[in-house]
Amino acid sequence: MTKRSSNEIMQAALAAETAVLAFNIPYLPMMGAVVEALRDTRTFGLITVARLEWVKFESGSMAAIHNEYERVKDERFTRLHLDHCPVIDEDDLAVEYLEETTRAVELGYESVMVDGSRLPLRENIAATRRVVDMAHASGIPVEAELGAVLGHEAGPLPPYEELFSTGRGFTDVDEAVRFVRETQVDWLSVAVGNIHGAISAAKKNETKLAARLDIDHLKRIRQATGVPLVLHGGTGIRREYVLDAIASGIAKINVATAIRQPYERLREESVEKAQRAVYEAVRTLVRDELDLAGNVDMINPVL
Ligand code: 13P
Repeated sequence: MTKRSSNEIMQAALAAETAVLAFNIPYLPMMGAVVEALRDTRTFGLITVARLEWVKFESGSMAAIHNEYERVKDERFTRLHLDHCPVIDEDDLAVEYLEETTRAVELGYESVMVDGSRLPLRENIAATRRVVDMAHASGIPVEAELGAVLGHEAGPLPPYEELFSTGRGFTDVDEAVRFVRETQVDWLSVAVGNIHGAISAAKKNETKLAARLDIDHLKRIRQATGVPLVLHGGTGIRREYVLDAIASGIAKINVATAIRQPYERLREESVEKAQRAVYEAVRTLVRDELDLAGNVDMINPVL
């Protein structure tokens, strides 16, 4: 069995106009249920954990996540990805991002994300470039973010309609071209109307609003940059927008709230029931909502 790299997989997804779903794991027992649902639907997915999921939730540590991944992985359907390693985190604190992403690469994560999107462009470029140089030396692809995908911050969000109609925080096309050229980043996370599900204690149980996407803007970024684009905040976006986005350059979609909330609702009653709810949520999403079931045959993660 020859294993294709995560970058080859993303390029294949882009070319086939399908998308790789990336499932966030804030509680380790969720991971096996996600892998099982991917296998049962023959869908390729990334198992992904953001720094805030071991700092603010219960995924433990980068090593604990890696150990659990080694236990439950199925490389015909999955790879392991480090999600958001921020340069400045959601509480405005500086993070040792180069040390943390280096540790992920050393542990065996198969792709990493550095998130300098809270920085001015020049500093985001510089931080991203450092991580790209480090990761590429080990053959590991890097995702970075340009534009403001809001939602993880504790404070109130500006009214969504105002954000969408003004395009405030959207990824700028010219900046995206420069960013990709100067950082050599492999995959670019963009802001085109998407927002993250809330994670603050006050708001994390709320139903996420139905975000829209500016598909024309997305197409402009796609044409100008040529790299696989990533859609964060995958929960709750209306189906027709997501399908259009996949046909317009989105090759990876991050999903957290849609599987975290069902797990949290049931985990005190029974971890097994909570795992079952995660399994069902993944299956419904890939099979019924996004028509991605079976996409492993378009991506060929192993040859
Ligand atoms: P949602 O919680 O909206 O699914 O967003 C997930 C995400 O983008 C994690 O990086």
